[in-house]
Amino acid sequence: MATINTSYQKLAAGYLFPEIGRRVREFQNARANADVLRLGIGDTTEPLTSTIVKGLQDAVAGLGTTDGYSGYGDSEGIPALREAIAAQYQKLGTPVHADEVFVSDGAKPDSANIQSIFGPDNVVAVQDPAYPVYVDSNVISGRTGEAANGCYEGLVYMPCTEDNGFFPELPKQKADLIYICSPNNPTGAVATHAQLKAFVDYARANQAIILFDSAYAAFITDPSLPRSIYEIEGATECAIEISSFSKSVGFTGVRLGWSIVPNALVAEGTSPGEIKGLWTRRQNTFFNGASNLVQAGGVAALSDPGLAEMQEQVSFYLENARIIREGVEGVGLTAFGGVNAPYVWMRTPPGVSSWEFFDKVLSECYVVGTPGAGFGPSGEGYFRLSAFGHRANIERAVESLRTRLKL
Ligand code: MLT
Repeated sequence: MATINTSYQKLAAGYLFPEIGRRVREFQNARANADVLRLGIGDTTEPLTSTIVKGLQDAVAGLGTTDGYSGYGDSEGIPALREAIAAQYQKLGTPVHADEVFVSDGAKPDSANIQSIFGPDNVVAVQDPAYPVYVDSNVISGRTGEAANGCYEGLVYMPCTEDNGFFPELPKQKADLIYICSPNNPTGAVATHAQLKAFVDYARANQAIILFDSAYAAFITDPSLPRSIYEIEGATECAIEISSFSKSVGFTGVRLGWSIVPNALVAEGTSPGEIKGLWTRRQNTFFNGASNLVQAGGVAALSDPGLAEMQEQVSFYLENARIIREGVEGVGLTAFGGVNAPYVWMRTPPGVSSWEFFDKVLSECYVVGTPGAGFGPSGEGYFRLSAFGHRANIERAVESLRTRLKL
């Protein structure tokens, strides 16, 4: 008799964003399809830039010729893209090489799949609040016990609060796999060199591994802030970095990302190169590589004109973030983030839970945000607005908050 993976039954709720979508549809059904302004999920809205469109079109045309046709590629990615990604790391002064770059169909699948190369007994530590995929993927793989009071047994929660500037203290208990996201989703906080160094030192001293999500690194405009964990000395021995084209060039639907698994990376009982070998083996077995067309789009995105256009698009969303943050502060709420990150994180009014505030903002202002509690227990009492949107919609949302929110 077939049985199921019962760890799925431990998952405390449906995945956050479909749940928000369900509530919004319910609201719209009850209000004759009210026109809601969606600042919930961080989904890009601006068209692909001309350099990327040309790169994609050329790749399509090439596939229509005998000489330009290609079938299966390496599951690690096409060499041109691996080299272009490594070149971006080298510009930051980091020692990342093309053979350590694994191209994928996005940071979300990589951040869910990466845990599969580590043993079941690893203790997992997450920032709290955190992107739900880190927690859910480890629950599904059986690394946690049951959920109680919003926390899974066996998981180390590292609170990110106003008091610590939304960057956690080092774990006090044993932690083997440590997820860090900077710029952070959902709080918009960006870790400094010193903060990352403390974690790298901890990881090296304890033979732990940091799983560093840099999907929003392109939004860092402050040159003093690190865009990659490999800017910290020693990080290639203890960190995997996962990143994405989704938010920087609007590939949320196109799908393209990458992970860096350094040759130098080691875990207990392994020698350099072994962990990279495991990830290669995992990808070779489960994945036939990202679409060759999409990878051509990625190469175009990392060309000089592509990078200039990327910067323009990122600046556009950062301006949205500024408008949201100032708008939110204008109505008397306390806001964080939204400066080197596309998310504005705000405190809900006293006595109003994050889901209550979600309902309030939706029903009074027709604006969709994301309740902080959906990202973990320390997200309770907070609410996130995403800066991904057309300018007119962002301005309408801010105006609606200003004129209709009853505080
Ligand atoms: C978010 O809104 O947190 C992200 O867009 C979700 C994702 O990237 O999967």
